[in-house]
Amino acid sequence: MNFLGNSFSYQDGQLCCGKVALADIAESAGTPIYVYSARDITAAFHAYDEGLAAIPHKVCYAVKANGNLSVLRLLAAAGAGFDIVSGGELFRVLKAGGNPSGVVFSGVGKTAEEVDYALRMGIHSFNCESEAELALIDAKASRLGKTASISIRVNPDVDAATHPYISTGLRQHKFGVDIAEVEGVYQRARALRHLSLDGVSCHIGSQLLSTAPLLDSMDKLFGLVERLRGAGIAITHLDLGGGLGVAYQAGQKAAEISTYVAQLTERMAGRDLKLMLEPGRSLVATAGVLLTRVLYRKQNNGKEFVVVDASMTELIRPALYQAHHEIIPLRKTALGTIKADVVGPVCETGDFLARDREMANVLPGDMLAVCTTGAYGMVASSNYNARPRPAEILVDDTGWRIVRPRETFDDLIRGE
Ligand code: LLP
Repeated sequence: MNFLGNSFSYQDGQLCCGKVALADIAESAGTPIYVYSARDITAAFHAYDEGLAAIPHKVCYAVKANGNLSVLRLLAAAGAGFDIVSGGELFRVLKAGGNPSGVVFSGVGKTAEEVDYALRMGIHSFNCESEAELALIDAKASRLGKTASISIRVNPDVDAATHPYISTGLRQHKFGVDIAEVEGVYQRARALRHLSLDGVSCHIGSQLLSTAPLLDSMDKLFGLVERLRGAGIAITHLDLGGGLGVAYQAGQKAAEISTYVAQLTERMAGRDLKLMLEPGRSLVATAGVLLTRVLYRKQNNGKEFVVVDASMTELIRPALYQAHHEIIPLRKTALGTIKADVVGPVCETGDFLARDREMANVLPGDMLAVCTTGAYGMVASSNYNARPRPAEILVDDTGWRIVRPRETFDDLIRGE
Protein backbone atom coordinates (compact mmCIF):
# COMPACT_ATOMS: atom_id res chain seq x y z
CA MET A 1 0.00 0.00 0.00
CA ASN A 2 2.22 2.79 -1.35
CA PHE A 3 -0.43 5.36 -0.37
CA LEU A 4 0.05 4.60 3.36
CA GLY A 5 3.10 4.64 5.62
CA ASN A 6 4.86 1.48 6.76
CA SER A 7 2.88 1.33 10.01
CA PHE A 8 -0.32 0.41 8.18
CA SER A 9 -1.02 -3.16 7.14
CA TYR A 10 -3.71 -5.84 7.13
CA GLN A 11 -3.27 -8.41 9.87
CA ASP A 12 -5.74 -11.33 9.79
CA GLY A 13 -7.98 -9.32 7.48
CA GLN A 14 -8.04 -6.28 9.79
CA LEU A 15 -6.47 -2.96 8.84
CA CYS A 16 -4.00 -2.07 11.60
CA CYS A 17 -1.75 0.82 12.54
CA GLY A 18 1.18 -0.83 14.26
CA LYS A 19 -0.43 -3.43 16.50
CA VAL A 20 -3.71 -1.57 16.87
CA ALA A 21 -6.74 -2.62 14.81
CA LEU A 22 -8.27 0.57 13.41
CA ALA A 23 -11.75 -0.92 13.87
CA ASP A 24 -11.11 -1.03 17.63
CA ILE A 25 -10.33 2.69 17.65
CA ALA A 26 -13.44 3.45 15.58
CA GLU A 27 -15.68 1.31 17.83
CA SER A 28 -14.36 2.93 20.95
CA ALA A 29 -13.90 6.58 19.89
CA GLY A 30 -16.53 6.80 17.13
CA THR A 31 -16.49 7.92 13.51
CA PRO A 32 -15.61 9.96 11.55
CA ILE A 33 -12.16 10.10 13.12
CA TYR A 34 -8.61 10.87 12.05
CA VAL A 35 -5.84 8.47 13.06
CA TYR A 36 -2.12 9.32 12.72
CA SER A 37 0.93 7.10 13.09
CA ALA A 38 3.66 8.75 15.20
CA ARG A 39 6.18 6.26 13.86
CA ASP A 40 5.51 7.16 10.21
CA ILE A 41 5.75 10.89 10.91
CA THR A 42 9.08 10.64 12.69
CA ALA A 43 10.41 8.21 10.06
CA ALA A 44 9.65 10.71 7.29
CA PHE A 45 11.26 13.52 9.28
CA HIS A 46 14.39 11.46 9.84
CA ALA A 47 14.54 10.61 6.13
CA TYR A 48 14.95 14.35 5.50
CA ASP A 49 17.08 15.22 8.49
CA GLU A 50 19.50 12.29 8.35
CA GLY A 51 19.62 12.40 4.55
CA LEU A 52 20.90 15.98 4.79
CA ALA A 53 23.37 15.25 7.60
CA ALA A 54 26.39 15.98 5.41
CA ILE A 55 25.44 19.63 4.84
CA PRO A 56 24.33 22.50 7.09
CA HIS A 57 20.54 22.35 7.06
CA LYS A 58 17.28 22.85 8.94
CA VAL A 59 14.05 21.02 8.14
CA CYS A 60 11.13 23.31 9.03
CA TYR A 61 7.85 21.40 9.07
CA ALA A 62 5.03 23.32 7.33
CA VAL A 63 2.51 23.53 10.17
CA LYS A 64 -0.39 24.16 7.77
CA ALA A 65 -0.35 20.50 6.71
CA ASN A 66 -1.35 19.23 10.16
CA GLY A 67 -1.18 21.51 13.16
CA ASN A 68 -2.28 19.17 15.94
CA LEU A 69 -0.21 19.97 19.05
CA SER A 70 0.77 16.34 19.53
CA VAL A 71 2.06 16.14 15.96
CA LEU A 72 4.02 19.37 16.48
CA ARG A 73 5.39 18.09 19.80
CA LEU A 74 6.57 14.91 18.11
CA LEU A 75 8.39 16.84 15.41
CA ALA A 76 9.84 19.39 17.83
CA ALA A 77 11.27 16.51 19.88
CA ALA A 78 12.78 15.03 16.72
CA GLY A 79 14.58 18.33 16.07
CA ALA A 80 12.35 19.96 13.47
CA GLY A 81 12.02 23.68 12.93
CA PHE A 82 8.69 25.04 11.73
CA ASP A 83 7.37 26.97 8.76
CA ILE A 84 4.38 29.10 9.75
CA VAL A 85 1.99 31.29 7.78
CA SER A 86 0.06 33.01 10.57
CA GLY A 87 0.21 34.20 14.15
CA GLY A 88 -2.08 31.32 15.04
CA GLU A 89 0.42 28.80 13.72
CA LEU A 90 3.20 30.47 15.74
CA PHE A 91 0.99 30.21 18.83
CA ARG A 92 0.51 26.49 18.15
CA VAL A 93 4.25 25.91 17.70
CA LEU A 94 5.06 27.69 20.96
CA LYS A 95 2.32 25.80 22.84
CA ALA A 96 3.82 22.56 21.52
CA GLY A 97 7.22 23.49 22.93
CA GLY A 98 8.75 24.39 19.55
CA ASN A 99 11.79 26.65 19.70
CA PRO A 100 11.05 30.05 18.09
CA SER A 101 14.66 30.23 16.87
CA GLY A 102 13.79 27.44 14.42
CA VAL A 103 10.71 29.15 12.96
CA VAL A 104 10.45 30.71 9.50
CA PHE A 105 7.44 32.90 8.75
CA SER A 106 6.08 32.60 5.18
CA GLY A 107 3.00 34.06 3.52
CA VAL A 108 1.98 36.90 1.26
CA GLY A 109 -0.23 38.78 3.72
CA LYS A 110 1.41 39.03 7.15
CA THR A 111 -0.38 41.60 9.33
CA ALA A 112 1.35 44.18 11.51
CA GLU A 113 0.18 42.31 14.63
CA GLU A 114 1.60 39.03 13.32
CA VAL A 115 4.95 40.61 12.47
CA ASP A 116 5.10 42.17 15.91
CA TYR A 117 4.28 38.87 17.65
CA ALA A 118 6.90 36.99 15.60
CA LEU A 119 9.59 39.58 16.35
CA ARG A 120 8.81 39.59 20.06
CA MET A 121 8.98 35.78 20.17
CA GLY A 122 12.34 35.84 18.35
CA ILE A 123 11.72 33.70 15.27
CA HIS A 124 14.57 32.70 12.97
CA SER A 125 13.55 34.62 9.84
CA PHE A 126 10.83 36.07 7.66
CA ASN A 127 10.28 34.92 4.07
CA CYS A 128 9.14 38.23 2.59
CA GLU A 129 7.02 38.66 -0.47
CA SER A 130 6.96 42.41 -1.20
CA GLU A 131 8.75 45.71 -0.59
CA ALA A 132 5.84 46.97 1.47
CA GLU A 133 6.22 43.97 3.76
CA LEU A 134 9.97 44.64 4.13
CA ALA A 135 9.18 48.22 5.14
CA LEU A 136 6.64 47.04 7.71
CA ILE A 137 9.04 44.51 9.27
CA ASP A 138 11.80 47.14 9.39
CA ALA A 139 9.51 49.62 11.15
CA LYS A 140 8.31 47.05 13.68
CA ALA A 141 11.84 45.80 14.35
CA SER A 142 13.04 49.36 14.84
CA ARG A 143 10.36 50.01 17.44
CA LEU A 144 11.36 46.84 19.32
CA GLY A 145 15.08 47.61 19.02
CA LYS A 146 15.64 44.36 17.08
CA THR A 147 17.11 43.27 13.77
CA ALA A 148 14.93 40.96 11.69
CA SER A 149 16.52 38.22 9.61
CA ILE A 150 15.08 38.30 6.09
CA SER A 151 14.84 36.08 3.02
CA ILE A 152 13.01 37.33 0.00
CA ARG A 153 10.71 34.77 -1.56
CA VAL A 154 11.66 34.59 -5.18
CA ASN A 155 9.30 33.51 -7.89
CA PRO A 156 11.67 31.54 -10.13
CA ASP A 157 9.15 31.14 -12.99
CA VAL A 158 9.29 27.36 -12.94
CA ASP A 159 6.24 25.26 -13.79
CA ALA A 160 5.56 22.89 -10.90
CA ALA A 161 3.26 20.77 -13.12
CA THR A 162 0.72 20.18 -10.35
CA HIS A 163 -2.92 21.12 -9.72
CA PRO A 164 -3.43 24.81 -10.66
CA TYR A 165 -4.69 25.68 -7.15
CA ILE A 166 -1.46 24.48 -5.52
CA SER A 167 1.02 25.69 -8.14
CA THR A 168 2.71 28.93 -7.06
CA GLY A 169 5.97 29.43 -8.97
CA LEU A 170 4.84 31.03 -12.23
CA ARG A 171 4.94 34.74 -13.09
CA GLN A 172 1.15 35.08 -13.02
CA HIS A 173 0.85 33.84 -9.41
CA LYS A 174 0.47 36.15 -6.41
CA PHE A 175 3.47 34.64 -4.63
CA GLY A 176 7.02 35.94 -4.25
CA VAL A 177 9.00 38.53 -6.18
CA ASP A 178 9.84 37.94 -9.82
CA ILE A 179 13.39 36.64 -10.13
CA ALA A 180 14.07 39.26 -12.80
CA GLU A 181 13.31 42.06 -10.32
CA VAL A 182 14.46 40.66 -7.01
CA GLU A 183 18.04 41.97 -7.07
CA GLY A 184 16.71 45.54 -7.14
CA VAL A 185 14.51 44.70 -4.15
CA TYR A 186 17.51 43.39 -2.18
CA GLN A 187 19.51 46.50 -3.12
CA ARG A 188 16.80 48.86 -1.93
CA ALA A 189 16.28 46.79 1.24
CA ARG A 190 19.90 47.47 2.22
CA ALA A 191 18.74 50.92 3.28
CA LEU A 192 16.42 49.39 5.91
CA ARG A 193 18.67 49.33 8.95
CA HIS A 194 16.69 46.90 11.07
CA LEU A 195 16.77 44.11 8.49
CA SER A 196 19.54 41.58 8.00
CA LEU A 197 19.42 40.23 4.44
CA ASP A 198 20.46 36.65 5.13
CA GLY A 199 18.57 34.38 2.79
CA VAL A 200 16.81 33.66 -0.45
CA SER A 201 13.71 31.49 -0.53
CA CYS A 202 11.13 30.03 -2.87
CA HIS A 203 8.20 27.63 -2.86
CA ILE A 204 6.96 26.69 -6.31
CA GLY A 205 3.99 24.52 -5.45
CA SER A 206 2.78 21.43 -3.70
CA GLN A 207 2.29 17.74 -4.55
CA LEU A 208 5.19 17.61 -7.01
CA LEU A 209 5.70 14.00 -8.05
CA SER A 210 9.08 14.66 -9.66
CA THR A 211 12.02 16.56 -8.17
CA ALA A 212 13.04 18.13 -11.49
CA PRO A 213 11.15 21.45 -11.04
CA LEU A 214 12.49 21.75 -7.47
CA LEU A 215 16.06 21.24 -8.68
CA ASP A 216 15.52 23.73 -11.53
CA SER A 217 14.43 26.33 -8.99
CA MET A 218 17.42 25.53 -6.83
CA ASP A 219 19.77 26.15 -9.76
CA LYS A 220 18.09 29.49 -10.45
CA LEU A 221 18.45 30.43 -6.77
CA PHE A 222 22.14 29.46 -6.76
CA GLY A 223 22.71 31.92 -9.60
CA LEU A 224 20.89 34.60 -7.62
CA VAL A 225 22.94 33.90 -4.47
CA GLU A 226 26.17 34.34 -6.46
CA ARG A 227 24.98 37.65 -7.92
CA LEU A 228 23.86 38.93 -4.52
CA ARG A 229 27.11 37.90 -2.88
CA GLY A 230 28.97 39.59 -5.74
CA ALA A 231 27.08 42.77 -4.89
CA GLY A 232 28.16 42.52 -1.25
CA ILE A 233 25.00 40.98 0.24
CA ALA A 234 26.16 38.14 2.47
CA ILE A 235 23.55 35.45 1.86
CA THR A 236 23.92 32.60 4.35
CA HIS A 237 20.87 30.44 3.72
CA LEU A 238 18.73 29.14 0.91
CA ASP A 239 15.16 28.02 1.66
CA LEU A 240 13.71 25.79 -1.03
CA GLY A 241 10.20 25.62 0.46
CA GLY A 242 8.09 22.47 0.55
CA GLY A 243 6.45 20.64 -2.28
CA LEU A 244 7.55 17.03 -2.48
CA GLY A 245 4.44 15.01 -3.24
CA VAL A 246 3.21 11.61 -2.12
CA ALA A 247 1.45 8.71 -3.88
CA TYR A 248 -2.30 9.03 -3.34
CA GLN A 249 -3.25 6.21 -5.66
CA ALA A 250 -2.25 2.58 -5.87
CA GLY A 251 0.37 2.39 -8.60
CA GLN A 252 1.20 6.11 -8.49
CA LYS A 253 4.91 6.92 -8.15
CA ALA A 254 6.22 9.86 -6.15
CA ALA A 255 9.89 10.76 -5.77
CA GLU A 256 11.33 9.31 -2.55
CA ILE A 257 12.50 11.69 0.18
CA SER A 258 15.85 9.85 0.18
CA THR A 259 16.35 10.49 -3.56
CA TYR A 260 15.44 14.14 -3.20
CA VAL A 261 17.78 14.85 -0.28
CA ALA A 262 20.64 13.03 -2.02
CA GLN A 263 20.14 15.28 -5.06
CA LEU A 264 20.05 18.35 -2.82
CA THR A 265 23.16 17.32 -0.88
CA GLU A 266 25.12 16.84 -4.09
CA ARG A 267 24.15 20.29 -5.36
CA MET A 268 24.91 22.05 -2.07
CA ALA A 269 28.51 20.81 -1.85
CA GLY A 270 31.09 23.58 -1.49
CA ARG A 271 28.60 26.45 -1.52
CA ASP A 272 28.96 27.65 2.06
CA LEU A 273 25.18 27.91 2.38
CA LYS A 274 22.72 26.50 4.87
CA LEU A 275 19.82 24.67 3.23
CA MET A 276 16.35 25.09 4.69
CA LEU A 277 13.33 23.05 3.61
CA GLU A 278 9.65 23.45 4.50
CA PRO A 279 8.05 20.04 3.86
CA GLY A 280 4.48 19.55 4.99
CA ARG A 281 2.62 16.88 3.04
CA SER A 282 5.56 14.49 2.62
CA LEU A 283 5.96 14.29 6.43
CA VAL A 284 2.38 13.57 7.40
CA ALA A 285 0.10 12.63 4.47
CA THR A 286 0.71 8.89 4.36
CA ALA A 287 0.83 8.75 8.18
CA GLY A 288 -2.90 9.46 8.46
CA VAL A 289 -6.28 7.91 7.69
CA LEU A 290 -9.82 9.15 8.12
CA LEU A 291 -12.09 6.40 9.43
CA THR A 292 -15.75 6.46 8.44
CA ARG A 293 -18.80 4.26 8.82
CA VAL A 294 -21.21 3.29 6.03
CA LEU A 295 -24.68 4.67 6.80
CA TYR A 296 -26.65 3.56 3.73
CA ARG A 297 -26.43 2.05 0.30
CA LYS A 298 -28.70 3.53 -2.34
CA GLN A 299 -29.22 3.54 -6.09
CA ASN A 300 -30.45 6.37 -8.29
CA ASN A 301 -31.15 5.41 -11.90
CA GLY A 302 -28.89 2.41 -11.57
CA LYS A 303 -26.05 4.49 -10.12
CA GLU A 304 -24.65 3.11 -6.91
CA PHE A 305 -24.04 5.36 -3.86
CA VAL A 306 -22.33 4.51 -0.59
CA VAL A 307 -23.43 7.10 1.97
CA VAL A 308 -20.89 7.43 4.78
CA ASP A 309 -20.66 9.54 7.95
CA ALA A 310 -17.59 11.49 6.75
CA SER A 311 -17.96 14.33 4.28
CA MET A 312 -16.39 17.40 2.74
CA THR A 313 -16.44 19.01 6.19
CA GLU A 314 -13.86 16.49 7.41
CA LEU A 315 -11.96 16.19 4.11
CA ILE A 316 -12.41 18.88 1.47
CA ARG A 317 -9.67 17.72 -0.92
CA PRO A 318 -11.88 15.64 -3.27
CA ALA A 319 -14.39 18.51 -3.63
CA LEU A 320 -11.77 21.23 -3.94
CA TYR A 321 -9.06 19.62 -6.07
CA GLN A 322 -10.80 16.53 -7.48
CA ALA A 323 -8.23 14.76 -5.30
CA HIS A 324 -8.10 10.96 -5.27
CA HIS A 325 -7.94 9.17 -1.92
CA GLU A 326 -7.94 5.39 -1.78
CA ILE A 327 -10.83 4.03 0.30
CA ILE A 328 -10.33 0.61 1.82
CA PRO A 329 -12.28 -1.52 4.30
CA LEU A 330 -11.21 -1.86 7.94
CA ARG A 331 -12.22 -5.53 7.77
CA LYS A 332 -11.77 -7.49 4.58
CA THR A 333 -14.84 -9.48 3.48
CA ALA A 334 -15.48 -11.98 0.71
CA LEU A 335 -18.32 -9.98 -0.85
CA GLY A 336 -16.43 -8.84 -3.94
CA THR A 337 -16.40 -5.31 -5.31
CA ILE A 338 -18.82 -2.66 -6.54
CA LYS A 339 -18.46 0.57 -8.51
CA ALA A 340 -19.91 3.47 -6.54
CA ASP A 341 -19.76 7.10 -5.52
CA VAL A 342 -18.80 7.50 -1.86
CA VAL A 343 -20.74 10.50 -0.56
CA GLY A 344 -21.29 12.24 2.76
CA PRO A 345 -24.36 13.69 4.50
CA VAL A 346 -23.66 17.33 3.54
CA CYS A 347 -26.27 19.04 1.35
CA GLU A 348 -23.98 19.75 -1.61
CA THR A 349 -23.55 17.81 -4.84
CA GLY A 350 -19.82 18.48 -4.40
CA ASP A 351 -19.88 16.46 -1.19
CA PHE A 352 -18.15 13.32 -2.34
CA LEU A 353 -15.09 11.40 -1.21
CA ALA A 354 -14.82 9.29 -4.37
CA ARG A 355 -16.61 9.00 -7.71
CA ASP A 356 -17.19 5.90 -9.83
CA ARG A 357 -14.85 4.03 -7.55
CA GLU A 358 -14.19 0.32 -7.75
CA MET A 359 -14.32 -0.58 -4.06
CA ALA A 360 -15.22 -3.21 -1.49
CA ASN A 361 -18.86 -4.29 -1.53
CA VAL A 362 -19.66 -2.74 1.84
CA LEU A 363 -22.85 -2.91 3.90
CA PRO A 364 -24.35 -0.37 6.31
CA GLY A 365 -22.35 -0.47 9.56
CA ASP A 366 -19.10 -1.45 7.81
CA MET A 367 -16.15 0.83 8.30
CA LEU A 368 -13.73 2.30 5.77
CA ALA A 369 -10.40 4.10 5.83
CA VAL A 370 -10.00 7.13 3.59
CA CYS A 371 -6.26 6.94 3.05
CA THR A 372 -3.42 9.47 2.81
CA THR A 373 -5.31 12.06 4.82
CA GLY A 374 -2.69 13.05 7.41
CA ALA A 375 -1.95 16.26 5.46
CA TYR A 376 -4.45 19.01 4.61
CA GLY A 377 -7.29 16.98 6.13
CA MET A 378 -8.26 18.03 9.66
CA VAL A 379 -6.65 21.48 9.24
CA ALA A 380 -9.08 22.31 6.44
CA SER A 381 -12.15 20.84 8.17
CA SER A 382 -15.17 23.01 8.90
CA ASN A 383 -18.40 23.10 10.87
CA TYR A 384 -20.56 23.52 7.76
CA ASN A 385 -24.03 22.00 8.24
CA ALA A 386 -23.33 22.31 11.99
CA ARG A 387 -21.16 19.23 11.94
CA PRO A 388 -18.86 18.90 14.96
CA ARG A 389 -15.23 18.40 13.92
CA PRO A 390 -13.98 14.83 14.29
CA ALA A 391 -11.62 13.57 16.97
CA GLU A 392 -7.93 12.95 16.24
CA ILE A 393 -5.98 9.93 17.46
CA LEU A 394 -2.23 9.39 17.66
CA VAL A 395 -0.90 5.85 17.60
CA ASP A 396 2.59 5.33 18.97
CA ASP A 397 4.58 2.43 20.38
CA THR A 398 2.66 2.62 23.65
CA GLY A 399 -0.81 2.37 22.04
CA TRP A 400 -3.35 4.97 20.94
CA ARG A 401 -4.75 8.09 22.51
CA ILE A 402 -7.13 10.91 21.69
CA VAL A 403 -5.08 14.01 20.89
CA ARG A 404 -8.12 16.15 20.13
CA PRO A 405 -11.58 15.14 21.29
CA ARG A 406 -14.57 15.19 18.97
CA GLU A 407 -16.36 18.53 19.14
CA THR A 408 -19.68 18.62 20.96
CA PHE A 409 -22.86 20.52 20.10
CA ASP A 410 -21.86 23.03 22.79
CA ASP A 411 -18.56 23.61 20.97
CA LEU A 412 -20.61 24.53 17.92
CA ILE A 413 -22.30 27.47 19.61
CA ARG A 414 -19.50 28.64 21.86
CA GLY A 415 -19.28 32.44 21.82
CA GLU A 416 -22.53 33.05 19.94
N1 LLP B 1 6.02 26.39 2.30
C1 LLP B 1 5.12 27.24 1.78
C2 LLP B 1 5.46 28.65 1.66
C3 LLP B 1 3.85 26.76 1.38
O1 LLP B 1 2.98 27.60 0.85
C4 LLP B 1 3.55 25.38 1.52
C5 LLP B 1 2.25 24.84 1.11
C6 LLP B 1 4.53 24.54 2.08
C7 LLP B 1 5.76 25.07 2.45
C8 LLP B 1 4.31 23.06 2.29
O2 LLP B 1 4.17 22.41 1.07
P1 LLP B 1 4.08 20.81 1.00
O3 LLP B 1 5.42 20.25 1.41
O4 LLP B 1 3.00 20.37 1.91
O5 LLP B 1 3.77 20.56 -0.41
N2 LLP B 1 -4.34 22.25 0.62
C9 LLP B 1 -3.55 21.76 -0.50
C10 LLP B 1 -2.08 22.05 -0.35
C11 LLP B 1 -1.76 23.53 -0.19
C12 LLP B 1 -0.29 23.79 -0.03
C13 LLP B 1 -0.04 25.21 0.32
N3 LLP B 1 1.31 25.56 0.61
C14 LLP B 1 -3.83 20.27 -0.66
O6 LLP B 1 -4.64 19.72 0.08
O7 LLP B 1 -3.27 19.62 -1.56
